[in-house]
Amino acid sequence: MIKVTALSRLHQEIRQPLRQRLDEVYGQDVHMEGKWMIACEEKLKELTGRKHVHMVTSGTSALMLMFMALGIDQGDRVICINHSIPSSVMPPKLLGADLIFSDINKHGQQDLTGIDKEDVKAIMTTGLYGDCHDHDLIADLGIPVINDSCQAFLSKYKGKEATSIGDASAISFAQNKTCPVFGTYGAVLTDRDDWADDFSHTRRCGYLSRNNVNLDHIGINAQPHADKCVQVYTSLEYVLKWQERRQQIADEYRDALKDTGILIRTSPDYSTTNNHKFVLFVDNNIEFMKKLADMGIESHLHYRYNFSKNKVLSKDTTKDFPMTDFFVKHAITIPSHPWLKKDEMSAVMDAVKKSITKKDLDLKI
Ligand SMILES: Cc1ncc(COP(=O)(O)O)c(C=O)c1O
Repeated sequence: MIKVTALSRLHQEIRQPLRQRLDEVYGQDVHMEGKWMIACEEKLKELTGRKHVHMVTSGTSALMLMFMALGIDQGDRVICINHSIPSSVMPPKLLGADLIFSDINKHGQQDLTGIDKEDVKAIMTTGLYGDCHDHDLIADLGIPVINDSCQAFLSKYKGKEATSIGDASAISFAQNKTCPVFGTYGAVLTDRDDWADDFSHTRRCGYLSRNNVNLDHIGINAQPHADKCVQVYTSLEYVLKWQERRQQIADEYRDALKDTGILIRTSPDYSTTNNHKFVLFVDNNIEFMKKLADMGIESHLHYRYNFSKNKVLSKDTTKDFPMTDFFVKHAITIPSHPWLKKDEMSAVMDAVKKSITKKDLDLKI
């Protein structure tokens, strides 16, 4: 099966420096924080232009820390995306927020035109598929922006690194992300000194030292481990090379599919994609997925969720979100990870071409 992600190939590529560094880490008695955490944070400052970076144990915990720094309370209204992975919206929900959902647009980005900003405590923005939200629409509203840029690391908003936008932003290093590791990890980024001070405390259950008597922060266990930071740092050394490869694959796929008439997701004009996902639109994505699987090609459905229709998340389940419905029914992600080989790319393209029906070609977005 040609897979959507390729952890074993990632490991094959980075194993030499990784093994050496892990031996060093496992040969010491310090398992938390340390020099590899600092190395990751410095490297991420360089790549994103952010003033402060804190490594944490996942993208989800990065989002949680941002909402804690903001001081979200029971019943606070938070605008957030209606269609994504559930991790995007769980942190504000866990803290008691009322989620006000915005639909996506035809690019799969959060539609922030004409949002109801009445009494809103925060706008949570989420970039999907390798692009980001249109930040200028909300930049001057005077409402804090929590940027879920977990998928958007190294994509650009009007030429500016997507993770540098908003009061704070998050990166995920999960296995399918721009900069993958084995398992998952995260980072929280900000230019605000007050929030950076909070993150130092809140990522380790509210305290910086066991020797202090008083606690003045509430926190969670998101304190980074030395061995995982070795993984992140080692992947960060390769990430720009992987970005080039992702671009080549996307270009070759577009070229191979250009005469078929199949709909391919496009980026908004303001965004330079990081090619995180290569998404096609087909009449019935479940049927299409089965056909690809029969030809040895794995594909994923991003995503199946219409958050507003779930009572655990939404007070009003009656509202319609047409573009969410479109993506739920029609979007399909094909393998495009940087370790794909030439013959595998050809096999993916052959399988896609063989699976296309007239109904797929009649689809409009
Ligand atoms: C948009 C988005 N937000 C948040 C997350 C959560 O990141 P993690 O899996 O590192 O907790 C993900 C991960 O898939 C994501 O894609």
